[in-house]
Amino acid sequence: MEPKDYSPVKVNLEKDKGYAWCTCSHSNNQPFCDGSHRAKNATPSMGFTVTEDKDAYLCTCKQTKNPPYCDGSHNA
Ligand code: FES
Repeated sequence: MEPKDYSPVKVNLEKDKGYAWCTCSHSNNQPFCDGSHRAKNATPSMGFTVTEDKDAYLCTCKQTKNPPYCDGSHNA
């Protein structure tokens, strides 16, 4: 699929909770890692936290320049 075929996923993020954003596209739990990269020998997840509770749009096309957040690169 092309980046334009993807769209970001809106998620509610909780302050100080640890998240693992999928970087390899193989996860079946997008935009989060489900461990599939291990079987595929693909890139590992990117851990992140937020400093306040907030809604965010996380990238699923993996082309963003501001991971884990969608920066509109899927439209390029
Ligand atoms: S989904 Fe928008 S930049 Fe990846």
